[in-house]
Amino acid sequence: MLNSLKDDIKLIIKDKLGIGNVIVEEPKKGDSDLSIPLFSLSKEMNKPLNDIYSLLKDVILENIKIVERIEFLSGFLNIYLDRVVFSRLVLDEIRNKGLDYATKQNNNKTVVIDYSSPNIAKSFSVGHLRSTMIGNSIKRIYEKEGYDVVGINHLGDWGTQFGKMIVAYQRWGDIETIKKDPTVELQKLYVKFHEEALIDPSLEDEARMAFKKLENNDEVERKLWEWIREVSIADLDIMYERLGVVFESNVGEAFFNDKMDAVIDELDSKGLLKIDQGATIVELIGMPPALIKKSDGTSLYFTRDLAALLYRYQTYHFSKIIYVVGNEQKLHFEQLKAVTKLMGYDFDIEHVNFGLVLSNGKKMSTRTGNNAKLSNVIDQAVTLAYEAIVEKNPNLENKKEVAEAVGIGAIIFNDLKNERHLDYDFNIENMLRFEGQTGPYLQYSAVRINSILESEEVDINNLDDSCFKLDHYFEIVKILSQLSSVIDRAMNTNSPSVIARYLLLLSQAFNHFYGKEKIIVEDIKIKNTNLLLISCVRTVIRSGLSLLGIKPLNKM
Ligand code: ARG
Repeated sequence: MLNSLKDDIKLIIKDKLGIGNVIVEEPKKGDSDLSIPLFSLSKEMNKPLNDIYSLLKDVILENIKIVERIEFLSGFLNIYLDRVVFSRLVLDEIRNKGLDYATKQNNNKTVVIDYSSPNIAKSFSVGHLRSTMIGNSIKRIYEKEGYDVVGINHLGDWGTQFGKMIVAYQRWGDIETIKKDPTVELQKLYVKFHEEALIDPSLEDEARMAFKKLENNDEVERKLWEWIREVSIADLDIMYERLGVVFESNVGEAFFNDKMDAVIDELDSKGLLKIDQGATIVELIGMPPALIKKSDGTSLYFTRDLAALLYRYQTYHFSKIIYVVGNEQKLHFEQLKAVTKLMGYDFDIEHVNFGLVLSNGKKMSTRTGNNAKLSNVIDQAVTLAYEAIVEKNPNLENKKEVAEAVGIGAIIFNDLKNERHLDYDFNIENMLRFEGQTGPYLQYSAVRINSILESEEVDINNLDDSCFKLDHYFEIVKILSQLSSVIDRAMNTNSPSVIARYLLLLSQAFNHFYGKEKIIVEDIKIKNTNLLLISCVRTVIRSGLSLLGIKPLNKM
């Protein structure tokens, strides 16, 4: 709402005055609703500040009815809105559109998002969890912004690690044990391989041989690989289901095995390949060369990614492709960009990176056993949520279901509220608090509103408009009006944290309002106004939570 008003103002200034580069912003300081910085305009147009100010002021006042007054203050044109008219517009729109408030029309553009993408012979790391949650939210944000989104889980189902896995299985594996808990048992075998290889380095050669056989499609290795893949995926699916994450495509790295030769041929025909000590490489400026083929002829992660990129372009004609992968693969994606450029493609490739998760100041790992399995971490959060619910609301009917949503929501929110490139500390007790900057706090705010609205009807034709002139009412309206500019910002920076922080701001404003104002009052008009306002707050909190991938609740 505020966004479209900004656009209107810019448009009218362009139309009437021919000035096309005006900035209309939401001021961080002061009490005005919108402001226009005048210094740079005055410089560019070579006119005194005051002249520019009067020009703009007249045009805006004349054409934008919702503007009540305009003031000049330290180089800015400050716009004050008619609070009543503005509030009615905002609240009506939210009321009419519901969860579709701030949803943009389809723009016929496709964005591909590659996220989660765990390696199935290894454990699902905390890093993969971050990628899953951040990617899922970015996906929802782009959808809201009118894009067609293809979410891809680029499963790490190929690579030399499968040689190790196969050797380990053949030597020490037991089918029944693995079936019971595939991720953990396969992981144990993988760890054992590395321990044993320290004592007997010839195991490494054996593993290389096994992988080579796999690449040559030898029956035994192939069957074993298929089985490992199957049980691992089944295990992963349980977790994705819990997290509410759905992918449009699950083709993993192995899918690109038969698509790499074509890519290598293309690189060759474009004269980009060099042989270096038996390995095939592409030389790059300002960074190490990209390794295309190893000296033993086996394929590489990089080459598979390149093949995948070209395949995705042919399949989806994306206007942008986003990879949600940790900081440590920065070089990999720079090389991917550089190589495709050399090949003559002009893809919009973005590596959305993120920091580490720490546990007591050290890198948290699902690998070394300080948290043996990710689903255990999730279970722990859910159990804590359950205990809190039993204490707070012992009569709640579906406690288990609610605890699942609260526990998982807490983990997701705790991750997404941080700027993604920073490291953060994983503390289950903290993230499950019902006060402070937590998922449960947000879910609880919406539930609180829900319980007030449950027994009340809102009559929007019988309001007391004068309420909107009061600061604590208008503050909420203004926050509500910002949703679409907040989503724009989140999308442009691929930062779910922008939405997370906005939701905290809104909830705090609501809780402040709720502390100050009785909602159900005698005066029917004021009561209706209050109900309308808080029902809109609920809609926006719910909508924001689902952009983060968190389930909104009716009761908790
Ligand atoms: N499986 C890789 C890893 O765990 C991440 C894959 C990311 N996606 C990609 N297209 N490279 O390190």
